[in-house]
Amino acid sequence: MSTFDKIFENNAHWIEQKLTLDPGYFEQLAKGQAPEILYIGCSDSRVTAEDLMGVQPGEVFVHRNIANMVISIDMNVMSVVNYAIRHLKVKQVVVCGHYFCGGVKAAMQSSDLGILNPWLRNIRDVYRLHKTELNNLTDEGERYNRLVELNVQEQCVNLIKTAVVQQAYKERGLSVHGWVFDVHSGKLIDLKIDFPKILAEIMEIYRII
Ligand code: CO
Repeated sequence: MSTFDKIFENNAHWIEQKLTLDPGYFEQLAKGQAPEILYIGCSDSRVTAEDLMGVQPGEVFVHRNIANMVISIDMNVMSVVNYAIRHLKVKQVVVCGHYFCGGVKAAMQSSDLGILNPWLRNIRDVYRLHKTELNNLTDEGERYNRLVELNVQEQCVNLIKTAVVQQAYKERGLSVHGWVFDVHSGKLIDLKIDFPKILAEIMEIYRII
């Protein structure tokens, strides 16, 4: 059986399962969405958003790109962030990176990756910002893992720089979280990013509202 045939067969089974548990499942799903979380993760096929969080359709608004980046001039991520916060009124925004991230790995190497260069340069900027800490790590694996974590942290900072996040924080206590998924163990790790502290530190420069 081809992969495609299998997918459609899986889908038929999934519908059956859902309807057995709740005959009105899809009718309910069609009514609309009210997710409480916006999840920004990596496109990596191993890092499936809903699966690793054990959530159902309708529970999490998802955006994925290479290396879970939040870039202020990327209309795609910015549209998602604005829609999720202003219209869906999510309560939490999560940036989830993962160890063994190919995008982060590529940014650590000196190679010309064509159209990916400007995208990956944002990760190189994270490296430059935290160069002292990273260069102090002699083990390459540790440095790689740490850059994954610092990249998540900086993407959270990028979120905090936006007007939409600053406004929702002030008005209704929206919060931003940084997580890392450990592909090796399957564990989801909360980096416990101190959102109010970061906000206080960067507001001197990035206050918009
Ligand atoms: Co990745």
